[in-house]
Amino acid sequence: MKRSNRLANLPPYPFARWAARVGVARQEGIDVIHLDIGSPDMPPEDPVIDALCESAHQPDVHGYPGYRGIPALREAVAEYYGRRFGVELDPDNQVVPLLGSKEGIVNMALACLDTGDVALVPDPGYAPYTMGTAMAGAEVCTFPLLAENDFLPDLAAIPVDARDRAKLMWLNYPNNPTGATASLEFLAQALDFCRQHSILLCHDAPYCDVTYDGYVAPSVLQIPGAEEVAVEFNSLSKTSNMAGWRIGMAVGDPEALAALAQVKSNVDSGIFRPLQEAAVQALAVTDDWLAARNAIYRERIGVILAALQEVGMAATRPRATLYVWAQVPPGWESEPFASDLLDQTGVAIAPGPFFGPSGEGYVRISVTAPTERVREAMGRLDRFMRSTSQ
Ligand SMILES: Cc1ncc(COP(=O)(O)O)c(C=O)c1O
Repeated sequence: MKRSNRLANLPPYPFARWAARVGVARQEGIDVIHLDIGSPDMPPEDPVIDALCESAHQPDVHGYPGYRGIPALREAVAEYYGRRFGVELDPDNQVVPLLGSKEGIVNMALACLDTGDVALVPDPGYAPYTMGTAMAGAEVCTFPLLAENDFLPDLAAIPVDARDRAKLMWLNYPNNPTGATASLEFLAQALDFCRQHSILLCHDAPYCDVTYDGYVAPSVLQIPGAEEVAVEFNSLSKTSNMAGWRIGMAVGDPEALAALAQVKSNVDSGIFRPLQEAAVQALAVTDDWLAARNAIYRERIGVILAALQEVGMAATRPRATLYVWAQVPPGWESEPFASDLLDQTGVAIAPGPFFGPSGEGYVRISVTAPTERVREAMGRLDRFMRSTSQ
């Protein structure tokens, strides 16, 4: 079969190549410690699992679940946004449940981009912003996230031509992969920029509840009038340790959400009802549960930062996300460093350029392995660095 031009024109997805490489290391009998992907290693709360099981035993929940999600789920999302951010959402037209936020991110591109349009995308950034744009046949214009700007974009530096053709701008704070955060003031500036240039602001916020040291991440919808210009993507993958369950939501601008829902109604047939009922339970997550779970991640971050300091790799402590964004040691490039580390020690970390060219010089280390495994990985890193500097 000849693949469609659409697929042939997609930029390469470096993580696929990397996963194959990690698979080979495994087959060779290497004990691989995965600090390269952000898949939470702990389970959701028991009541969430109980809600799924109880619902799945009911006889009338196994048919097609409907396109827009059950009212109880949309109401639970609205209730969560009210409690967590003080944002009022209309559950009927400002909430679209998703099969994970990745699905919504790609389908949003199909909903609002045509050939000749531009999407403004962060570099480094989460790959589906680029992939979705490419699948829609539109152009990507990246903007760099640089350490000297605290990994926030310089909106004034976006080229005028791209800005004028842009229909969509992706922002993601707390940020993958840099771990950076954005203030509400910065989000308000970005919103003004988008309003001025008729661009839909898509803010991707799946890490908003993976936070440390008292940091509280804002929602773009806290800005008055944001619901006219912005959609926020969110997810239970990281907030509630439900990455494999595939459930998320898009909220905000009703017009943009109607377009997204139109695409979805032609692509998927909704979310298994018991999963929606479990998500209702998950959205009632308490601050205590989040604090206890985040304390475990924070301890792992401490283990990683101490080891990085020992081997002379610079990194700042993230206030949120599952990632430490670390500079590679002097004299190394990102991918050779991560590759040699994998081959010689079995520790898998993500080379920064996998997220875009501005990631060169960095690696992303995720905290989603049990604490003892993180300690073991950092011991191996230490031995690797000693052996390479001899
Ligand atoms: C920035 C960002 N957005 C979206 C997602 C996708 O999350 P979901 O599991 O909801 O599809 C991820 C997952 O790693 C992510 O890092």
